[in-house]
Amino acid sequence: MVGVVLNIDEGKREVASVKEIIDLTAADMARVNKLILSKAGSDVEMIPEVANHLISSGGKRLRPMLTLAAAQMFGYSGEDHIKLATSVEFMHTATLLHDDVVDESDLRRGRKTARMIWGNQASVLVGDFLLGQAFRLMVDVGSLDALDILSTAASIIAEGEVMQLAAAKNLETTEDEHFAVIKAKTAALFSAAAEVGPVIAGASKPARAALRSYGMNLGLAFQLIDDALDYGGDSKDLGKNVGDDFREGKVTLPVILAYRRGTAAEREFWKDAIEANNADDAGLEKAIGLMTRHGAIADTIGRARHFGEIARDALAPLDATPQKDALIDVIDFCISRVV
Ligand code: IPE
Ligand code: IPE
Ligand code: MG
Ligand code: MG
Repeated sequence: MVGVVLNIDEGKREVASVKEIIDLTAADMARVNKLILSKAGSDVEMIPEVANHLISSGGKRLRPMLTLAAAQMFGYSGEDHIKLATSVEFMHTATLLHDDVVDESDLRRGRKTARMIWGNQASVLVGDFLLGQAFRLMVDVGSLDALDILSTAASIIAEGEVMQLAAAKNLETTEDEHFAVIKAKTAALFSAAAEVGPVIAGASKPARAALRSYGMNLGLAFQLIDDALDYGGDSKDLGKNVGDDFREGKVTLPVILAYRRGTAAEREFWKDAIEANNADDAGLEKAIGLMTRHGAIADTIGRARHFGEIARDALAPLDATPQKDALIDVIDFCISRVV
């Protein structure tokens, strides 16, 4: 459920700004959640055990809601949007299992990461299983266009994660290079999730392009806010540890801006923290102080707002519908979110 990290079987606690999309997709999402649980099943016991650990801890379910709302928006009345939304959430879940291994993260959705309980190998392999299940659902739907969009996104996400790995600890990373990474690792899935809605609804090419662009720019905004929250957020709200990016030496936009705008002495601090990996709690506090001094977090949020505006304008030519309003509310949520 959007707004909080909660068990999907628990009640509703919502953030007002996404109430619209939650309401519009509630009936469909109940079916998606059922399908998620059933398709995470396997006779190989460890698979549902590991998968359900992450799945039952909730998450915002933002991406499948985009697919459902985008299909509804163009009058879709079949069943396939349920399968595609499930497939989208499985792709997301798989990338989280893999990402927490890559990032050596300990906390996800308020719980210990799967890798902390079952180890890296199980985490990677169960992620692979979920990715496989995602593709089986797409094939079940039988839309070559949807398969094309989602399979392309799957390889682009992996490319983004590898690009990020290659750029790790490199303080000379440019803002453009960083945008290329987040476009691939995060925005590509938002974009695909939104575009497959009009695709199965048989909507026009411009409608598809509108939703594709909306998703891409929303995804960029979403990840930029995520990067800001890693320095300015609250671990309890986020369900993951604040400061992970710093401790890991990840060069995200707040770091890029603070480093570029810093004095020579400040740059030495960043080199020591990020490149030489001397990133303790005192360092994190100093890093946040430098970011504040140079407006690095505020400007990261400013960049996110900019992409949010592009997402909004991408939808502008489309007919007014409750779904369109709801998708616009999602932009505001993604910018102002604390979870
Ligand atoms: C986390 O995504 C991964 C990023 C792209 C930053 P979400 O914040 O949507 O994760 P859940 O599904 O709500 O836990
Ligand atoms: C998010 O990566 C994108 C993917 C999971 C592919 P991050 O590493 O930035 O996200 P969090 O902070 O772990 O959720
Ligand atoms: Mg990562
Ligand atoms: Mg991570």
